[in-house]
Amino acid sequence: MATLLELTSQGDVATISDESKLANIELQRPQQLYELWERQPWSAHAIDLSQDIEDWKQFPESEKGDVIWGLSSFFVGEERVTTQFSGLVMAYDDQSEEAFLTTQQVDEARHTQFFARYYEEVFSIGDGIEAQLERVRADVNEGFLSLFDEHLVNACKQLVDHPDDMEAKVDFVTTYHMVIEGTLALTGQFFITDFFENRGIMPGFVDGFKKISQDEHRHVAYGTWFLKEACKDPALASRMQAKLAELLPIAATVLVPKGADPFGEWTLLGYDSAKVNEFAFTALSRRLRVIGVGLPEVAPA
Ligand SMILES: [Fe+2]
Ligand SMILES: [Fe+2]
Repeated sequence: MATLLELTSQGDVATISDESKLANIELQRPQQLYELWERQPWSAHAIDLSQDIEDWKQFPESEKGDVIWGLSSFFVGEERVTTQFSGLVMAYDDQSEEAFLTTQQVDEARHTQFFARYYEEVFSIGDGIEAQLERVRADVNEGFLSLFDEHLVNACKQLVDHPDDMEAKVDFVTTYHMVIEGTLALTGQFFITDFFENRGIMPGFVDGFKKISQDEHRHVAYGTWFLKEACKDPALASRMQAKLAELLPIAATVLVPKGADPFGEWTLLGYDSAKVNEFAFTALSRRLRVIGVGLPEVAPA
């Protein structure tokens, strides 16, 4: 019988296309996910960007803005999820969970470093990470700011103040691992990687972004495991569902280019909104099936 890791990318059940296997799957636990992390080291500063610098010089001027816009949400997002992770590290239950969670915080810092390096060396937007973040923050939309600067920050603060509070931990992991990483980041990463791979350009970016996605699948595998355990308590399952119902309408607007109608049709680097939303929805529903919590009724924002 195949192991979960053979069936999935990084233990993330959303990558199982045979949905009949979802019902009785045994998830990777924090100890296994920690050991998997040890087997997958990589360095943001060692990726070769020389071809990317040449490709960017040849890139059509009319499309450069769209690419930088698309990547800015990721750059700011990686910074946010690095700094806003400390509360969860403090809320560990046992040594294996503590070990895994510290690896995740290091991963997020590495992802931020990758973007900082890329913006400086390829896009020539430099002058230190603080100045870069100030520049790219001008690109993100209102939904992004609401999710990352309000909901995520508040969820982290609740955990810092009350590390033993299971409701606060469920709120945080639902916000961070299910919505931000599982629904938004992995969806954006899939389409942006596909865009560059299809054109056969920016190989350093594709290499780095694939390694980031590999880390993200491992992170989401942890979140799925945690929520499955927590949601054996029906009160916590309802809590998770309520948090999803609150955040999904906001999340639905985050990948939408500034100025476009989030509930109309839009495109992300040429991929239409129906395709992007379908990918995000399928991934989220597969994880929820495994956790055993139904998709909430979501009212439009
Ligand atoms: Fe990340
Ligand atoms: Fe992550």
